[in-house]
Amino acid sequence: MLSQLPWLTTCCLLLLSTPISGALIRRDNLNTTRAAVDAMMTLYDPTTGLWDPSSNGSSWWQSGVALWILADYMVRTGSRAYLVQAENTVAIQRAPLSWWPEGGGDFRADSTDDTGWWALAMTSMYQLTGDDMYLAIAREDEAYMYAYWNTTTCGGGLIWNIPAGTYHNAISNELYLQLTARLHNLIPGDTLYLNRSLQEWSWFNRSGMVNAQGLVNDGLTDNAACVNNGMPTWTYNQGVVLGGLVELHAATGDGTYLSAARRIADAVLASASLVQGGVLTEPCASEEECEPNGTAFKGIFAKELGRLDAALADRPYAAFLEGNARAAHANARNASAGNYYGFRWQGPFDRVTVGSQEAAVGLLMAAYLE
Ligand SMILES: *[C@@H]1O[C@H](CO)[C@@H](O)[C@H](O)[C@H]1NC(C)=O
Ligand SMILES: *[C@@H]1O[C@H](CO)[C@@H](O)[C@H](O)[C@H]1NC(C)=O
Ligand SMILES: *[C@@H]1O[C@H](CO)[C@@H](O)[C@H](O)[C@H]1NC(C)=O
Ligand SMILES: *[C@@H]1O[C@H](CO)[C@@H](O)[C@H](O)[C@H]1NC(C)=O
Ligand SMILES: *[C@@H]1O[C@H](CO)[C@@H](O)[C@H](O)[C@H]1NC(C)=O
Ligand SMILES: *[C@@H]1O[C@H](CO)[C@@H](O)[C@H](O)[C@H]1NC(C)=O
Repeated sequence: MLSQLPWLTTCCLLLLSTPISGALIRRDNLNTTRAAVDAMMTLYDPTTGLWDPSSNGSSWWQSGVALWILADYMVRTGSRAYLVQAENTVAIQRAPLSWWPEGGGDFRADSTDDTGWWALAMTSMYQLTGDDMYLAIAREDEAYMYAYWNTTTCGGGLIWNIPAGTYHNAISNELYLQLTARLHNLIPGDTLYLNRSLQEWSWFNRSGMVNAQGLVNDGLTDNAACVNNGMPTWTYNQGVVLGGLVELHAATGDGTYLSAARRIADAVLASASLVQGGVLTEPCASEEECEPNGTAFKGIFAKELGRLDAALADRPYAAFLEGNARAAHANARNASAGNYYGFRWQGPFDRVTVGSQEAAVGLLMAAYLE
């Protein structure tokens, strides 16, 4: 089918408004994704191994996400264009952080989610290179995170705030779910990580973190009640859990994990606050309120939704992802600079940040490379 239509080009496909074959779009827009990756790499600083480190619009965990997305991009495309930079980042950033001297070890900071992002990046680096060093770091990170599995409150689950020993939140537990399931799938004969992943899901699914709308709020109250705290349903909280459930399905063959993921994804697409005019939207009162950390969230959701979509025979989210990719490309991109994307995918372009750029790459990969 593809080879019969060599005359279809990016220009023409972008003009079509009706949903069309994902395969055609995917092939044709490889270059759109690559151009966004190239733009993301202009923010790369080889001295620190971080993206945009001198800007107050970037934070450390976002470089972990950039590495995760970059490594996945190379895994999916076969490109090795930025392998040297990816390896450089790990070599430098695995050193203990100066601002978190208590931590030691690889990728430790004051919140458990920080380690989770970098650990997932390590699993992708392992897939990319086959180098056992990356798998060993991911395993070490898993053990570090599991030390914060806290049964004193809320009957289990990881706490997020390491210095205070508090806050059972969504993102840390979702990252842990996905990390353990990925480790299981990467290590033949493993039972340890599968057990921990099942332990995490069993806890998470009953924790109250998922609200009546089917969306995941930020976390649980810190009092003895441990109930849903009603804090924002950030898009990334709807996303990382999807990848975890896809991995658990791959590990077990049990379709109930995909059904659970589908319920969350469907709740997002049905949400008037998270999807506006067909375009994924971060629930912030203002753009300022979301900066800088929230700039990356939508791309994390999109990346994970793409993985869920690829695991489902009917590809229920392909049209949504393609529509968002087209919207972002048409409206959120700085056309004169080329390929930087701003925060709101509805546009207009606001400014260059690593968060919004990596979000665009996550979206384009989900739309075109899954
Ligand atoms: C995409 O990149 C490939 C490989 O460099 C090139 O052959 C092709 O012409 C490009 N396609 C478009 C639409 O720019
Ligand atoms: C849970 O966290 C609290 C507060 O930091 C701590 O006192 C307690 O020992 C922890 N419990 C477990 C089982 O780790
Ligand atoms: C995982 O759980 C199974 C069944 O509950 C148990 O037989 C096995 O020993 C566990 N493996 C590890 C490494 O804990
Ligand atoms: C989640 O928990 C509910 C009960 O609260 C249960 O019915 C459902 O099967 C669980 N889902 C999965 C995928 O484990
Ligand atoms: C962004 O997140 C980091 C922790 O990952 C935190 O230190 C920083 O204060 C956050 N920035 C804002 C503006 O909330
Ligand atoms: C878009 O990019 C051009 C070229 O780099 C730059 O001059 C312009 O300021 C950018 N626009 C915005 C809104 O930042």
